[in-house]
Amino acid sequence: MITINEHYLKLQASYLFSDIAKRVATFQEKNPDKEIIRLGIGDVTRALPAACVKALHAAVDELADESSFHGYGPEQGYAFLREAIAANDFQARGADIGADEIFVSDGAKCDTGNIQELFTTEVRVAIPDPVYPVYLDTNVMAGRTGTFSDGRYQGITYLDSVRENNFVPSLPSEPVDLIYLCFPNNPTGSTATREQLQSWVDYAREHKALILFDAAYESFIRDESLPKSIYEMDGAKEVAIEFRSFSKNAGFTGTRCAYTVVPKECTAYDSKGNRQALHPLWNRRHCTKFNGVSYPIQKAAEAVYSPEGKAQVRELTDYYLRNAAHIKAEIGKLGFTSVGGDNSPYIWIDGQGRDSWQFFDLLLDKAGVVCTPGAGFGKCGQGYIRLSAFNSYDNVVSAMQRISAAIS
Ligand code: MLT
Repeated sequence: MITINEHYLKLQASYLFSDIAKRVATFQEKNPDKEIIRLGIGDVTRALPAACVKALHAAVDELADESSFHGYGPEQGYAFLREAIAANDFQARGADIGADEIFVSDGAKCDTGNIQELFTTEVRVAIPDPVYPVYLDTNVMAGRTGTFSDGRYQGITYLDSVRENNFVPSLPSEPVDLIYLCFPNNPTGSTATREQLQSWVDYAREHKALILFDAAYESFIRDESLPKSIYEMDGAKEVAIEFRSFSKNAGFTGTRCAYTVVPKECTAYDSKGNRQALHPLWNRRHCTKFNGVSYPIQKAAEAVYSPEGKAQVRELTDYYLRNAAHIKAEIGKLGFTSVGGDNSPYIWIDGQGRDSWQFFDLLLDKAGVVCTPGAGFGKCGQGYIRLSAFNSYDNVVSAMQRISAAIS
């Protein structure tokens, strides 16, 4: 008899963004003439940078000719991309990361979801609340939690990110082994200072823990005093794995390219208490289960680091940050408090006593604007909504006019 992994039965309903997409589709069916503006899922809307498109075309042409054709590439990614990443994203900021510590992949979502395979079911997991649902759901699937009750899974240490701590969680009061952090944060848009991030690294070193650091939104940081990579912190290479993506900076949500950094010094422990390097384990997993990102997409990603690519990516992220500033200003005029939006494409809005999903319904029904209900990101998200800056400026202006009319 074939039996199922019953941990899947503990999961709550469907994946948040699929759930929202269904609700929006139902609304559109009932209101076919209503033009919906989507500020929900963080999906980019602007075209790929010209430098990337040029590189993509040239790479496709190479594939059209037998003399320059590429079949399977290295699972870890082509050296040209890994070297560009190491030099530009890390070494240029004083973080000593080598090209061979970088694993190119098709998404930070997949990597943050898959990485937990390297650890035993028994590790104690600390997850912020609110949180990008992938971190939590993949640990539920793996059997690291008990059942769901009162908005939380038993067995998880939740790190509350609330107004009182400026949406940056404090160190846990109970021992934990695996810690998920994301800055600039999805969903709250909050950022962590050097001191705050260093305190997490120090905690991990002291407690033999490991940090999974999701930096998918680092390109939106404009405050030079804020760290972009956890490897800017002393001692982080031993205790942290970092995830990055080309989705939000260069618009690769549809083309798919990301990477994960597993430093060679980074270790976890075997059952005898001996340190084991994680790099060879992730390498083994990657080679076994992943066939690499296509050559043209890696060439397009490499172009992000060319002088023109850098300028175009800056222009793209500036564009979305202008949207974010407009959302933040307009929502403030309506009397709502918010966090994020200045070094992040997300604005986390306090609904002033409104239930998250009711607020979502209100904006959809009355304004035709899609947001993401904060409660979908965890118990501490109840009462909040998230607006994303990923849309055209005109649509953002129009959405805020509609929201203003709906609220007042
Ligand atoms: C979000 O809206 O939170 C993101 O788009 C999710 C993702 O990048 O997978």
